[in-house]
Amino acid sequence: MKKIALLPGDGIGPEITAAAVRVLDAVGKFEYESYLIGGAAIDGAGNPFPDATLQGCLAADSVLLGAVGGPKWDTLPGNQRPEVGLLALRGALELYSNLRPAKLYPALRDACPLKYDGEFDILIVRELTGGIYFGDRGRTPSPTGDTKDDSAYDTERYSVREVERIARVAFEAAQKRSGRVISVDKANVLESSRLWREVIRTVAKEYPSVECTDMLVDNAAMQLIRNPGQFDVMVTSNMFGDILSDEASQLTGSIGMLPSASLGATKRGLYEPIHGSAPDIAGQGIANPIATILSAAMMLRYSFDMEAEAAAIEAAVDATLNAGLRTGDIAAPGQAKLGTVAITDEILRRIG
Ligand code: IPM
Ligand code: MG
Repeated sequence: MKKIALLPGDGIGPEITAAAVRVLDAVGKFEYESYLIGGAAIDGAGNPFPDATLQGCLAADSVLLGAVGGPKWDTLPGNQRPEVGLLALRGALELYSNLRPAKLYPALRDACPLKYDGEFDILIVRELTGGIYFGDRGRTPSPTGDTKDDSAYDTERYSVREVERIARVAFEAAQKRSGRVISVDKANVLESSRLWREVIRTVAKEYPSVECTDMLVDNAAMQLIRNPGQFDVMVTSNMFGDILSDEASQLTGSIGMLPSASLGATKRGLYEPIHGSAPDIAGQGIANPIATILSAAMMLRYSFDMEAEAAAIEAAVDATLNAGLRTGDIAAPGQAKLGTVAITDEILRRIG
C-alpha cells in the first residue's frame, strides 16, 4: 500500500489536508502518517523542519502538505521562520521542478476579474531548489558603525545544470500539451537570466516540435493580464515563478483553486496548494479545499500512476463547480457559500 506523509502545517492547513484525505480514501487505499512542519513544528518540536519529519517524508511514497506560516511566528529571525521548514523540505527531497497549472473553469468565468472572453490553460513550471531562495544571503554591518550603512543581501545564482533540467521538464510537458514554451527571465538586467536564456535556447534545439519564446518577467506579468490565452507552458526561476503563479491564480477566480506538484528525479513528490495558511479564516471551516484536493489528484497522476483516479477527482471538482456549488472565495454575490466539509461532501458525491 502506498504511504503518504501528511504535513498539515499551519492555519487552514489541517482543514484542507483532512478534506483531501477524504477524497483520496474515496478512490484508493493509502497509509498515512502525519508529521509536523512550519509553525506547528516550531511550537511542537522547537524547529520548523524536525528530523522526524524529514525521515518520515523520505520513508513515504509521497508527501501531501497543507500550508505553513502565520502571524504568530512572523517576528522570529529569518532562519527560524515556518517557511524555512518548507524550503528545507523542498531542498532535502531535491524537488527542483514545481508544476502549477492555472486554468479557467468555464463555471468560474464570472469570478475571473479580467474583461476577457477567451480561454486559458497555463502550466507554470517553476524552478524550485535554486535561485535567490537558496542563494547566499546575509547582513553586513556598516564598516563605519553608522547603522544607516548596515546592509543585507540575497543572491540569485543558477548553474547550467539547474537550468537544463528544469528546461527539460518544461519542454517535455509542452510536447504533451499544445507544444509552446515561454521562458520568463530578466535577461535585460540580470546575468543569471542571461545564462538562463542561453541554456533554454540550447535545450530547445533538442525539442524541435516545441515552439520556444523568451519573455521578460515584467512583460510577462502584464501579458498575463492582457491575454492569458497566449500562454501554454511558462518556465521560470524560483522567485519569478512564485510571483507569477499567485498572479495567474487570480485569473482563475481564486488562489484557493491552484494545486501544485513538486518533483525531482524520483517518483516521490510533494503536493501542496499554492496558497498560504490563511490565518484570518483558520479554524472556521470555510476554507476552499479544492486546491489541496486537486494537489492530491496530481499526486495520484505523477507519483502513483493512478491516472483514472486522478481524472475522476478532477471531473468531480468540475461537476461540483458546474452545479453552482461554491466556497466563499469563489461565490458570486448572493450565491450560497459552502464550508470546507460541505464542498468536500459534494465533490465526494460526484466521484464515479
Ligand atoms: C509558495 C509559497 C512559498 C514560496 C512560501 C510559503 C515559502 O509562497 O509555495 O508559493 O515562496 O515558495
Ligand atoms: Mg507563493
